[in-house]
Amino acid sequence: MPDTHPGSAQLGGRKLRRVVYSAAEIAERVRAMGREISAAYDREDDLLVLGLLKGSFIFLADLVREIELPLQVDFLAAASYGNGTVSSGEVRLLYDPEAPLEGRAVVLVEDIIDSGTTLAKVMPVLEARGAKSLEICALLHKRIAVLPKEARWVGFDAPPEFLVGYGLDYSENFRHLPYIGSL
Ligand code: IMP
Ligand code: MG
Repeated sequence: MPDTHPGSAQLGGRKLRRVVYSAAEIAERVRAMGREISAAYDREDDLLVLGLLKGSFIFLADLVREIELPLQVDFLAAASYGNGTVSSGEVRLLYDPEAPLEGRAVVLVEDIIDSGTTLAKVMPVLEARGAKSLEICALLHKRIAVLPKEARWVGFDAPPEFLVGYGLDYSENFRHLPYIGSL
């Protein structure tokens, strides 16, 4: 329950409006996504699962454990938000993956697609690196962005609210909540 989880103390008196996705709902959906991704590739695809930091870290950790294929994990860090709930529209690349992309099947893992600014900036950078294929897997999608390339796998169509937990933050807080709630 949100109000008894120690992480909700960071709200400083404010309350999570509601739990949007429970830990059990998320686990079930992530399991299904793992099965779909496992079915979409072969053992020979040299799969690289590339997590967009920081928000995807919990989703990625759970997702890769549901993928029954050989794979490697790397990360990419881009910052598109300041410390608020409104997109700044600016994206900075803070960490570039070390793993080569050339000739590989790459799945870019994102926590949530909101304005699509992050993906619009990051995708061309990755597309230039000669991957055999490049797909987007997002846990949440607010369905307001018009993306040059739509996400192939989406966990949930998210409501137009500011969500926290399961990797998603508000000013770096609440990432560790095991469920996703609305502020
Ligand atoms: P976009 O570039 O506007 O698509 O935003 C993508 C990034 O903004 C995500 O990876 C998150 O880090 C952050 N973000 C967008 N919406 C939310 C939200 O509802 N809660 C927490 N973070 C969000
Ligand atoms: Mg964030």
